[in-house]
Amino acid sequence: MDVCTTSFRDSRSPEAHRGARPGAAVRAATAALVLGLLPVGAPSSAETPFRVADAQPADYPTVLALEYMAERARSLSGGRLTFRIYPARQLGEEKDTILATIFGAIDINRVSSAPLGTMVPELQILGLPYLFADQDHFRRVIDGDIGADILAFLEPHGMIGLAYFDAGARSFYSTRPVRTLEDFRGLKIRVQNTPLYVDMVEHLGGNATPMSFGQVYESLLTGVIDGAENNWPSYITTRHFEAAPYYTLDRHTMVPEVVMMSKKRWDELDAGQQGILRTTAREAALHMRQLWDARVAEARVAASEAGVTVIEDVDQRQFAAAAKGLLEPFMQNPVHAKLIERIRAAAAR
Ligand code: GCU
Repeated sequence: MDVCTTSFRDSRSPEAHRGARPGAAVRAATAALVLGLLPVGAPSSAETPFRVADAQPADYPTVLALEYMAERARSLSGGRLTFRIYPARQLGEEKDTILATIFGAIDINRVSSAPLGTMVPELQILGLPYLFADQDHFRRVIDGDIGADILAFLEPHGMIGLAYFDAGARSFYSTRPVRTLEDFRGLKIRVQNTPLYVDMVEHLGGNATPMSFGQVYESLLTGVIDGAENNWPSYITTRHFEAAPYYTLDRHTMVPEVVMMSKKRWDELDAGQQGILRTTAREAALHMRQLWDARVAEARVAASEAGVTVIEDVDQRQFAAAAKGLLEPFMQNPVHAKLIERIRAAAAR
């Protein structure tokens, strides 16, 4: 296993940095291919290391869990399956890397389920606002049949879903305190590049600004946005707290991370190798969970040391009521409605 710490970011196209223009993702992926970073079409065998992408930095729990998976896969395959991991968006923003994975230029990719949801609508369901009662409910769903059934929707789109990583709850943070919808009104809030989250912020009365993860820090510093939303570890690792020191614990979504694989490369593997990847991805998910829980605790300490104001007395019911309408379009679709019903039923156990 190999973790690549060289940054290729400077050699990417300006489109890859902006990421928001139509077609930018395709151009970024193409540019990367031309630069030879992603040798699509190069003959691969089981022994060719998997090119593995992650948007988070090398010491983040998702990347550490991929390293764990790499080690386990290498050992279970007698050294035949190996990983070369590119953390820190070296292979592009998530939107670009998803396309590159479908093309077969990236073999394994750890992405947030949110950008996958723009392509595969079922992947949005787990990220619907205020769907889960608590962490146990969420973990039960992603670990069980419902989670597996949702991952299976990736395959017709050229991706094989291997496992979820729990990325906790996401909350809003901003340059000024938010306790009520009144406080939230008119705030320019960065969301992940998906219409669902644009709608969510609009339902709550804010101004949604979709943009890539890598653009958020600068946009906060320059006042392009007033806030964003994410889990504790991302809020701290990205240093967004420097510009947006009010963290409102509204816990509006639990958006899981997905470890997925290019179907192109998957189809070249034999059943035994595929089984090893499925098993080790699940092992990595459990390993990640321990790292995650510890990292959340550390992040909260770091936030307090940095003088972040944590707003616990947010009117969560008011937020949940305003976001309720977001489920309606999903409830109109029988397949989505069924999944939502199954998720709700799992809360009671
Ligand atoms: C989380 C997630 C990233 C994602 C980011 C985002 O931090 O781990 O994969 O890119 O959210 O808000 O875009």
